[in-house]
Amino acid sequence: MLTCMLAAGSAGRAEEVSPMVLETIAFGSCASQNKPQPIWDEIVRAKPQLFLAIGDNIYGDTTDMEVMKAKYAELGAKPGYQELLKTCPVLATWDDHDYGVNDGGAGYTRKVESQQVMLDFYKVPADSARRKRPGVYESWRFGPDGKRVQIILLDLRYFRSRAAKDSRPAEEKKRQNLVGWYVPDPDPKLTVLGDAQWAWLEEQLKLPADLRIIASSFQLIAGEKGMESWGCFPTERRRLYDLIGSTGAAGTVFISGDVHFSEISKTDEGPYPLYDFTSSGLTNSSPVWAAAVNPRRASPIAYAEPNFGLLKIDWSGPSPVLTMEARGLTGNTAFSMTVKASDLKKP
Ligand SMILES: [Fe+2]
Repeated sequence: MLTCMLAAGSAGRAEEVSPMVLETIAFGSCASQNKPQPIWDEIVRAKPQLFLAIGDNIYGDTTDMEVMKAKYAELGAKPGYQELLKTCPVLATWDDHDYGVNDGGAGYTRKVESQQVMLDFYKVPADSARRKRPGVYESWRFGPDGKRVQIILLDLRYFRSRAAKDSRPAEEKKRQNLVGWYVPDPDPKLTVLGDAQWAWLEEQLKLPADLRIIASSFQLIAGEKGMESWGCFPTERRRLYDLIGSTGAAGTVFISGDVHFSEISKTDEGPYPLYDFTSSGLTNSSPVWAAAVNPRRASPIAYAEPNFGLLKIDWSGPSPVLTMEARGLTGNTAFSMTVKASDLKKP
């Protein structure tokens, strides 16, 4: 029953706490509805209690909402996806392609309508706050005190400023191993989250939790590739790191998608070690993008085959232990890393 309530989005609003103790969470991104999607079989086999769809869940790329709905319907018709829906709730945010336009931001003309189409597909009820406020961000909490997991899905599209273009010659970018579409712009007027979402996030981070999973549809820590990332907006990224410190939000781990390969990045620029576990994509993979520079890569490899992310939480000790696994099409573990929540707090 709880599963059904969550799937319908009627439980787990920020002010409510689901009693479910989370031990296995799967997540993924970048699923082309035009392609076969065999990876759902492996996701179901991993028995997640929750699946987080963190963006590019379809390749909508349209201002025509009938086309958008039809593309969501293609995802909904995939047998493996239908099987997943029978076994666990799916919580979703979006990235550019399901928002409606490649690398899109605040200027996308159909964002109001696209938000409702997206929330319809994920069966978010009419009285949800997500139906009434601009943007699809939301937060949920699971488990009793001592086993509390907070899930925060950010919206990086609805309010986002334009990233600055990289105009350097292609040869120079190649020499530096950059994909090279964008460059960092520290202009404080640029935003990723927008004022309302920043204020909302601050309140969420003040809520008590033993572990926090924050989904950012594009990468947070790996900012050098020249792809869309928080690295294009260094002032906003600094603000996010500082907010985690000022709110005292311990136990934070980020997950991301978008880039068509999987890796874990780590930084010491936050109040404590911060990790960004990128899993992309469920169908789309790019060895070329995986080869681009990332001086903060913490995983042994960047995995450029279809994959999903698996988060396993061990509650048996005094403090939770999180294992991050990139899982491939045959159920293979491409890489894994373990982090203790006791290390994810200010020294
Ligand atoms: Fe994307």
